[in-house]
Parts: sequence; structure tokens; C-alpha cells
Amino acid sequence: MIRAFVRSDSEERRFATANADLTATTLRVNRIFVLAMPLLMGIMNFSSVAVLWFGGHLVDNGQMPIGNLTAFLAYILQILMSVLMAVMMVILVPRAEASAERIEAVVRVEPSIAAPEHPVTPATAKGIVEFRDITFGYPGGEHPVLRDLSFQLRPGETTAIIGGTGAGKTTLLNLIPRFFDVSSGELLIDGVNVRDRSLEELWSGIGLVPQQAYLFGGTVADNLRFAAESATDAELWHALEVAQARDFVATMPGQLDAPIDQGGTNVSGGQRQRLAIARALLKRPLIYLFDDCFSALDATTDARLRAALRAETRDTTVVIVTQRVSTILNADRIIVLDGGCVVGSGTHEELLAACEPYQEIVASQLGEAAA
Ligand SMILES: Nc1ncnc2c1ncn2[C@@H]1O[C@H](COP(=O)(O)OP(=O)(O)OP(=O)(O)O)[C@@H](O)[C@H]1O
Ligand SMILES: [Mg+2]
Repeated sequence: MIRAFVRSDSEERRFATANADLTATTLRVNRIFVLAMPLLMGIMNFSSVAVLWFGGHLVDNGQMPIGNLTAFLAYILQILMSVLMAVMMVILVPRAEASAERIEAVVRVEPSIAAPEHPVTPATAKGIVEFRDITFGYPGGEHPVLRDLSFQLRPGETTAIIGGTGAGKTTLLNLIPRFFDVSSGELLIDGVNVRDRSLEELWSGIGLVPQQAYLFGGTVADNLRFAAESATDAELWHALEVAQARDFVATMPGQLDAPIDQGGTNVSGGQRQRLAIARALLKRPLIYLFDDCFSALDATTDARLRAALRAETRDTTVVIVTQRVSTILNADRIIVLDGGCVVGSGTHEELLAACEPYQEIVASQLGEAAA
């Protein structure tokens, strides 16, 4: 779950002071430890030597049987070991206490996104998403990131969202699965406010491919079955085929059983994106949200993938976020976002004729292509 993480100046200062405190305390603890350990070991060994020295003389003079000396030595070592353990406890218990407090603090956090007490289920699940006058600002942020958004996303339509870096595209997508609650306005899916829907049910209808595709440690199949536990191998291959990932998975050792490192660090960025797309496809949701997930693909793979996706997602609501005009030429509708506001909406041709910010984006990219 994505969380706003904004620190104020006073928090920043507190953080710096706490850091300095931690360094000083750790140094002091380690200094005490460095002195205490040799001291205790010294006492222990010195005692053994003393017992053997005096006991040896007594045994030698016939004043004590040798068994008594051995038993005494064993007892004294046991006592000294216990003292050593007690000292260790004095150091470890406060540490464990502090750790336990912190773990408890995390466990006790109440999520700001709470499931409603009486969830409402829409009469028919179609995948119609409606933004009604939505304004959104991150908790702790000064200005709203999205302002006065009103539009509808419909099944069977591909809507593209284009805009510069920081325009609010990812934020807009994250509102649909209710990772954040809107500040004002209403977000409806199939006529029901997302705040009134049960979270599991809401999420089960949405396939989100995030901007930073993430894979889990395991195998390729494990990662894909995360979306559909009971999917057969044939279904996995089909999803890989559509996501243009079949070829490289086929060449991996073990194919579907090829190992994937935590975070997907042993595959390339583009391969990670395609596996994440295959995972979303297997879920067969009503709404697909692709957040700039074609960015690491070369132009031919991008084109092949979009053609295959179009056939696969015919009756669903598809939202594609991108910075590349070439990715969205065929979209049914393009929404141009700038500074959190919609500055244009329509097809490529309509926008090219009438929307200045869109003309600028197209001109800059065509300029790049020509250069
Ligand atoms: N978790 C957050 N907490 C506070 N502010 C955030 C957070 N995430 C994003 N922002 C701010 O919201 C604005 C929009 O960010 P967003 O990630 O939606 O942009 P974007 O259009 O997806 O950009 P990009 O094309 O680079 O992915 C930015 O100004 C950013 O600083
Ligand atoms: Mg983004």
C-alpha cells in the first residue's frame, strides 16, 4: 500500500536529534560491553586458577580428597557463568523491550483506508468508473495534486492519460483502487462510491500494473498464479503470449519454473513489466489500469503488445497512462493532464486540432523522433 510520507521541519529536526542520540548511546553501550566482558572472563579464569592453586596444596598435604577439588571447581564455574548470563540480560532486556515497543507501534497503526461497516455491492458489475468533481491532495501536502476532475471511463473503451512528469497521472490511477481517499468529490464504480464497497471486492475487479513493476521471490509460475491461483499452465502461457513475454520465458532455464529473485532483480526492467502485465491479464478483471508500464519496451514490442492487448481486453475498461504519444494513437479517448487539471480530452485527431498542450507534447516527441 502506498502511503504519503511527508516530514515537516520540526519532524526533520527531531529525526536528526534522535539519530545523534542513538549514535551516542550505541557507542556508550559498546564501550561498557568491551570493558565488562574481559573483566568477567578475567574474574572467572582467575578464580579457577586460585581454586586449583590453593586446592592443589591442600590435596598435596593430604588435607582434602581430589574429588572435592573437582566438585568445587565445577560449582564455582557454574556460579560465575550464571553471573555472566545475568550481565548479558541487563544489556539485552532493555534492547528487546525497545524493539517490542516499536513492533507494537507498527502493529497498532489503524489504516487510514477503512473498510465500510455495511459494504454495498453494485447491482451489475460492469466496470464503469466515474470521477465527479474530484480534488485530491496528499496528507501533509500543501496544494491539491488533482483538481476538479470529472469524467467517465466505460467498458469497451481505452482511455489514455498523458501528461508530463508530476502531472498527477499515477495519483489519479491510485484513487480508483482506493489507495487514497479523495479530498472532495466522489469516485463511483458501477454507480457505487468506492468508500462504500468492501475492499476485497473492489480490488478483485481491478487489474493494476504499477509504474514500478514488482515481482515476488519464487518462480515465474508463482508470480503469475498470484493473480489466479488455479490457472493451468496453458492459461499461463496464453497470458505470457499476449504480454509478449512467451519468448523470453521459453528460453529461461526451467521455463515456468525459472527462479525469480525478490523484487524481480534477475530479469530486465522490460521483462519485469511484461510479466507484471501477464499477471494482471490472468486476473481477468473488469478494469485494467496500466501505469506507464510500456515505457521500458522497444517500439516494436510495444506495438505488438498493444495489438494483442486490444483483442484481449475488448469488453473491459482500460486506462493506459503514458508519456509516449505513439502508445496511445488508437485510444478511444485521450485525457491530457497538466498540473493536476484536465486540459484536454478527445481522440488524437481532435486534440491535435484543438488542444495546445497536446500539440506541444506531440511536437516535442515528433521532434525527438526526427532528430
Ligand atoms: N506519496 C506522496 N506523498 C506526497 N506527494 C506525492 C506522493 N506521490 C506523489 N506526490 C506528488 O504528487 C504529484 C504528482 O505525482 P504523480 O506520481 O501522480 O505524477 P505522475 O504524473 O505519475 O509522474 P510520472 O510521469 O513521473 O510518473 C507530484 O508533484 C508529487 O510530488
Ligand atoms: Mg507516475
